[in-house]
Amino acid sequence: MYAQMVSSTGKVVKSYEDMSPDERAFQARIDAGEKIEPKDWMPEGYRKTLIRQMGQHAHSEIVGQLPEGNWITRAPTLERKAILLAKVQDEAGHGLYLYCGAETLGVTRDDLTRDLLSGKMKYSSIFNYPTLTWADMGAVGWLVDGAAIMNQVPLQRTSYGPYSRAMIRICKEESFHQRQGFDIMMKMAYGLPAQRKMAQDALNRTWYPALMMFGPSDADSVHSAQSMAWKIKINTNDELRQKFVDQTVPQAEYLGLSIPDEHLKRDPETGHYNFTQPDWDEFFDVLSGNGPCNVERLNARNKAWDDGEWVRDGLMAHAEKKRTAKCAAESGRQS
Ligand SMILES: [Fe+2]
Ligand SMILES: [Fe+2]
Repeated sequence: MYAQMVSSTGKVVKSYEDMSPDERAFQARIDAGEKIEPKDWMPEGYRKTLIRQMGQHAHSEIVGQLPEGNWITRAPTLERKAILLAKVQDEAGHGLYLYCGAETLGVTRDDLTRDLLSGKMKYSSIFNYPTLTWADMGAVGWLVDGAAIMNQVPLQRTSYGPYSRAMIRICKEESFHQRQGFDIMMKMAYGLPAQRKMAQDALNRTWYPALMMFGPSDADSVHSAQSMAWKIKINTNDELRQKFVDQTVPQAEYLGLSIPDEHLKRDPETGHYNFTQPDWDEFFDVLSGNGPCNVERLNARNKAWDDGEWVRDGLMAHAEKKRTAKCAAESGRQS
């Protein structure tokens, strides 16, 4: 998902007997559905795993602006441009809520940014694919934001208060993102034959990378168990992927587009669709830096950081000037 392959401390869930009294009390609060707040005691592993998860999530929101930002100046109408611009700005906001949320765990936004820019911290593999045509704006909104919603709606119930509250606000905006994507797809799918072809091509290229967003299959997802016990992950990767496929296939049928999977078939017994898994070798390859746009994305973020240095310096100098003036005024009042 936006946070894929987040390593949790401990691959095996700690048994009740192995827990310290503090850990037992903490787990009892989580089991009772209570929210954990920044000043509450928490196991170090919980704090570290959450920093990794929220940090990776924030980075995905920020890097996720790039493939769509690519099309703002080439949107086909003024209305589409305004909508896309608002959507990309929303993603910046999501990144900022999440960096702020992560800061309550004792890390700074600068620390997280440094780790993104050096390549130490990851972001979602989906943003390492290019957006080749305007139809990709439709496919990304429909499928990528759609997959994001599938993962983020349950995260509104996550155990960490600041993360959970950020998710509530983010999910409202994600619904708008998905709708605007589907609306673009609808226009193109019902449009001229050439537009319909573009819509189908965008679906063909986005389908499997979107399925990869949920992370590897549960059997290979070694870090899930502890995160689920701590309720910082609510559903397994496979559960969410299945839900996404079940929801999306009828939408594709409505558009008259075909999902690029010849084995896709609804099982009448379970009501679920059987589908072909994505190419997991490709997934791990993209995650380790070899996707079509990994270098371009990191270069763009590094350039933005370097280009923004004068703004950060200016803001710091202004804050320092205000602080000095306030101190001088206070000491003037005292004397
Ligand atoms: Fe977002
Ligand atoms: Fe979004």
